[in-house]
Amino acid sequence: MNEFLIAPSLLSADFSRLSEEISAVENAGADWLHIDVMDGHFVPNLTIGAPVIKSLRSCTKKPLDVHLMIERPEKWLKEFINAGSDLITIHVESTDEVDGCLETIRAAGCKAGLTLRPATAVEKIFPYLSKTDLILIMTVNPGFGGQTFMFEQVGKIAAIRAELNRIGSKALIEVDGGINADTATQCRLADVLVAGHYIFSRDYREAIAKLKAAKQEL
Ligand code: DX5
Ligand code: ZN
Repeated sequence: MNEFLIAPSLLSADFSRLSEEISAVENAGADWLHIDVMDGHFVPNLTIGAPVIKSLRSCTKKPLDVHLMIERPEKWLKEFINAGSDLITIHVESTDEVDGCLETIRAAGCKAGLTLRPATAVEKIFPYLSKTDLILIMTVNPGFGGQTFMFEQVGKIAAIRAELNRIGSKALIEVDGGINADTATQCRLADVLVAGHYIFSRDYREAIAKLKAAKQEL
């Protein structure tokens, strides 16, 4: 189907009612749930950790798409795997052990994702693509929801698509940050869109339907 998969970012949900928010976005057509984990070191913000993800695991059967914005993710991978994550994405800048992290994630039966900050050249992740199931393109500086989409990052989507085709990889491309019905149309070469502020600040069903359809708009 030529529609985007949509992963609402729970960062913009009401944290006092997370299970209700999950049911609501599921009923509104969400495909995955995007969970932003921040450690106050890799990014200047603190959010949630593995215990919360473990609790959320019992609320939903949808894939839990865990975006780790933490230093030295190798120290914590086991906890995120055991918490029930389906996809675990690490930042290429966060560790010297990128290969080892991707291998650990896959060996546990999870999908391995790799991402990069806006300031990082896209070629930095090329060496790891064959070990990666998901490439996450950041269109804001990681750390906070509700920021403005960085249009200059869009070229990375095409560059990754070309490199994945060249090596014969079926990895998915996901875009995260400042996604709304307009900016989504810039991301047509991607497969999955993360959206926090846009979905949680309006009618969830209408927002998700608009984002899905943006892949086809001319
Ligand atoms: C930013 C996070 C994003 C963020 C997206 O560090 O990785 O997932 O929550 O939120 P919006 O869609 O509001 O930019
Ligand atoms: Zn994210």
